[in-house]
Amino acid sequence: MQLPHLLGIEGLHRDQIRAVLDTAEHMAQVQTRELKKLPALRGRTIVGMFFEDSTRTKMSFDLAAKRLSADTMAFSGKGSSTSKGESLRDTVRTVAAMGVDGFVVRHWASGAPKLAMDWTGLPVVNAGDGMHEHPTQALLDAFAMRRALGDLAGKQVAIVGDLRHSRVLRSNLLCLRELGATVCLVAPPTLLPDAVGDWPQTQGVQIGSDLDEVLPHLDALMMLRVQRERMSGGFFPSEVEYTSGWGLTRERLGRLPGHAVICHPGPMNRGLEIAPEAADAARSLILDQVAAGVAVRMAVLFHIFSGEGSRA
Ligand code: NCD
Repeated sequence: MQLPHLLGIEGLHRDQIRAVLDTAEHMAQVQTRELKKLPALRGRTIVGMFFEDSTRTKMSFDLAAKRLSADTMAFSGKGSSTSKGESLRDTVRTVAAMGVDGFVVRHWASGAPKLAMDWTGLPVVNAGDGMHEHPTQALLDAFAMRRALGDLAGKQVAIVGDLRHSRVLRSNLLCLRELGATVCLVAPPTLLPDAVGDWPQTQGVQIGSDLDEVLPHLDALMMLRVQRERMSGGFFPSEVEYTSGWGLTRERLGRLPGHAVICHPGPMNRGLEIAPEAADAARSLILDQVAAGVAVRMAVLFHIFSGEGSRA
């Protein structure tokens, strides 16, 4: 299966999602070998363009490309001519002129990866754009959950926390529903996206603010970070009140069904949305998610860049 690009989960069919996850299983298996590298993308140059901070996503994309034998270059907004006022259009066209094969783009503005693709004609992978989508995060979450729970069809997943500012929510909602999971959203009313109940992807999704009510019914609990950097005002009265209403505390951990797993995309605010006991619990998938990131990003890059189509 050839993918032309990956701008979002929106528009992906369940068969395409499953194909990426199945390729990622193969990539994960390769990662257990002594020699972790495949020659698939030898001779291709993939550029990571990060206009916003990142640890996991940036490093795992770079590692994924290297494990497929691609050449990689890293661009970061800080320390580049962006700080001299160069536009996104001029920046991506400048790098494209060096003869590279494609981009991995993270940007604070929703829609920037699509613009980079339109301006250069090169394949782009969205590594998180504003509050829009973060497709590889949703794919790696699905991969880690599928490994722990089996097929996600019919599984109950709650996505909890700062949903208003979260691209991870938007991509996960689309991905999990496409895979047949039952999703519910839990957040303080101020941290729900405006008109979230009117989104096509929330039709049939339970949306509420009572975490304790959903807790006993879950197969997976996905805690999202309180994104202070995207908040202009006060969205909740105090951290203590946030934790007591919506945090995965030690006490709530005890009320999760025994088989249920815990996810968090990172970076975590330990003690705010998630207690250390929950983050480090045996049923926490947080580091499995990180490991899945390498395998899933290898799979995505493989499906985009390995075919003859990507050379045209
Ligand atoms: C997420 C992001 O940047 O959208 N982090 C990540 O990529 N692992 C979530 C977050 O920042 O809270």
